[in-house]
Amino acid sequence: AEAIDPLIGKMRAAAAPFRKTLQELHRRHAGLADGAVATYIPELALADPSWFGISVATVDGLVFEIGDSGRPFSIQSISKPFVFGMALQDHGRDGVLRRVGVEPTGEAFNAIILDEATNRPFNPMVNAGAIATTDLIEGADAGERFKRLMAMFRRFTGRDVHIDNAVFLSERTTGHRNRAIAHLMRNFGMVGDRVEESLELYFQQCSALVTCRDLAVMGATLADGGRNPLTGETALEPSYVKDVLSIMLTCGMYDFAGEWAYRTGLPAKSGVAGGIVAVVPGVAGIGVYSPPLDAKGNSVRGIRVCQDLSQEFGLHAF
Ligand code: DON
Repeated sequence: AEAIDPLIGKMRAAAAPFRKTLQELHRRHAGLADGAVATYIPELALADPSWFGISVATVDGLVFEIGDSGRPFSIQSISKPFVFGMALQDHGRDGVLRRVGVEPTGEAFNAIILDEATNRPFNPMVNAGAIATTDLIEGADAGERFKRLMAMFRRFTGRDVHIDNAVFLSERTTGHRNRAIAHLMRNFGMVGDRVEESLELYFQQCSALVTCRDLAVMGATLADGGRNPLTGETALEPSYVKDVLSIMLTCGMYDFAGEWAYRTGLPAKSGVAGGIVAVVPGVAGIGVYSPPLDAKGNSVRGIRVCQDLSQEFGLHAF
């Protein structure tokens, strides 16, 4: 903890130069032509590959932003760690771990695999585990569960979050693989009877609109032990923050997770719309948005920005 306070102080004193650093970082990577915008969900294919925003939010409530930091996009898989946190609050650690493991897969995010020993999906960051986690969102009916989900996003972002209906419909129309995964898990009792309702909820959570500024604030909330630094509200019970961060560190970047943890050393999560959230525990949240993805589904510019920030500021966990 004593290592962290001076860091915050340094960031505050260095606000002006830090803004410059972000500008340089943005300029350095804006010209990148690598990667391709996701097309497997028709609505995502409409994104402009040049969109690029960076935001950093500190635990004491400073927010830095550059580029397309206010442009909304669908949160996609970045919803997964936050829904995992919600499931932990609803069911406790044991209740959640009966339905989903904590082991990285080394497989693609949409792999149709379960742990043969336990029939559980491997972790809450791959689609199978995420759908099992979404199924754990409590509520009397679809409406109540949806409202609780949105309230959770609101606690983390500090503002009202809405669904992009076109993305939702697009997800729902094309989501046959996710349906197959959900029904396979239904067969093994890893999701309950309301499997269709939970799938809808999963498509809705992926369609929530955020900006990379929101992602930075969401990350800062995890960095601050579950407390939103802009609103002061508790978004997640502090005792579950380490659960969420450790899964992000080991599984957050899919089959790039090991390489990511090794190089960048920050808990993070990516989504196919091109967002990445990264967390510097005790210090800040980082949000990056740029739609072109590499072969593993991670934002090309997003990865570069986080790697550079980690290196330049010595943010690696170890
Ligand atoms: O399940 C899906 O197909 C998406 N709606 C979520 C995927 C996602 O963001 C995976 N990411 N990199």
